[in-house]
Amino acid sequence: MKILLTGGTGYIGSHTAIELIKQGYEVEIMDNLFNSKITVLDKIEEITGVKPKFYEVDLLDKEGMRKMFEEGKYELVIHFAGLKAVGESVEKPLKYYENNVGGTINLLECMKEFGVHKIIFSSSATVYGDQGVSELTEEMQTGVGITNPYGETKHVIEEILKDVAEADPKFEATILRYFNPVGTHESGLIGEDPNDIPNNLMPIIMKVSTGEIEKLKVYGDDYDTVDGTGVRDYIHVVDLAKGHVAAVKKMQPGISIYNLGTGKGTSVLEMIKAFEEASGKKLPYEIVGRRAGDLAEIYANPSKAERELGWKTEKTVEDAMRDTIKYLDYCASK
Ligand code: NAD
Ligand code: UD1
Repeated sequence: MKILLTGGTGYIGSHTAIELIKQGYEVEIMDNLFNSKITVLDKIEEITGVKPKFYEVDLLDKEGMRKMFEEGKYELVIHFAGLKAVGESVEKPLKYYENNVGGTINLLECMKEFGVHKIIFSSSATVYGDQGVSELTEEMQTGVGITNPYGETKHVIEEILKDVAEADPKFEATILRYFNPVGTHESGLIGEDPNDIPNNLMPIIMKVSTGEIEKLKVYGDDYDTVDGTGVRDYIHVVDLAKGHVAAVKKMQPGISIYNLGTGKGTSVLEMIKAFEEASGKKLPYEIVGRRAGDLAEIYANPSKAERELGWKTEKTVEDAMRDTIKYLDYCASK
């Protein structure tokens, strides 16, 4: 089966490309390289022996997209491409709606024109907003209490996919709601390499460890959690990538929605400790006030994915830290 990965040179897309190639799928990648580097393709080749065909195209470039679809003859699209800097989305909401929502509409129009009926979409736990409970299940109402335009774009795209499925009985869409992806491929050759300033915990921990950021600001230690700091469900990116392979195998008409998470929460202080233990180095941090829009504790109920996709996570936060350190050592050696 020939699969197009939009945003496939990015963090999650590149790890997914590796797992798909390992399973014998033919993978092609498109990306505008806004937040990733073309050298990722060589790393994918080093790991798998296969260098995916690459199109440097923007989702908003309708003609470029049409040309790619005409050549590609894809059976399925995994749609990772999007902007994801939450803070920037608050300052520049139109840029986010145009790129993420407008880009997805272009993609869906191309799919329709070229007879591609299957799509897997990278959504986020952010669509749940504040449910007032920690454990999140797929049937909960979404779209209420989302605190930033980035999260809104994920919700709007989910709604668009549902409407398209309603209008076209042949359409097959799987929405994957990721919890917090961390870690890198165990080779240490690829990892999260954002061109922009990170605002998520793990990329910041990485930059503190290399000295690029002086210390980690822990946003609040007065939450009602195990140690007062925020609790999230950190999923190893290779487990997440394998979740996509499971989803590819299970495509079916209509809309299917799955949480991809571990089902286990980890606090910020526990993450710091895990990094310190794996690296043998102290990680400088200070406790500061809460970050606006943050929730105390959320984690996935991943049982639907286990039941229907036959997928569950295998790796731990400790594995993620060990692999991340390998990746940091590799980057430092370059
Ligand atoms: P990433 O930034 O590493 O990858 C996204 C890729 O999309 C980048 O390579 C970027 O250059 C590309 N891109 C952006 N706009 C584009 C456009 N208009 N045309 C072509 N390419 C474009 O991010 P990631 O962490 O790999 O995330 C992948 C997807 O998963 C995103 O949709 C993101 O919103 C979603 N997601 C990520 C997380 C996370 O914490 N990493 C959590 C939940 C959901
Ligand atoms: C954030 C976004 C969410 C987005 C997700 C993935 C906010 C309010 N939410 O979620 O919309 O879908 O990223 O991109 O921005 N932390 C610190 N110090 C830091 C950074 C984070 O203490 O410098 C804490 C946070 O308070 C939180 C945890 O670490 O408790 C994880 O934060 P983060 O990685 O930003 O993910 P989310 O908050 O889950």
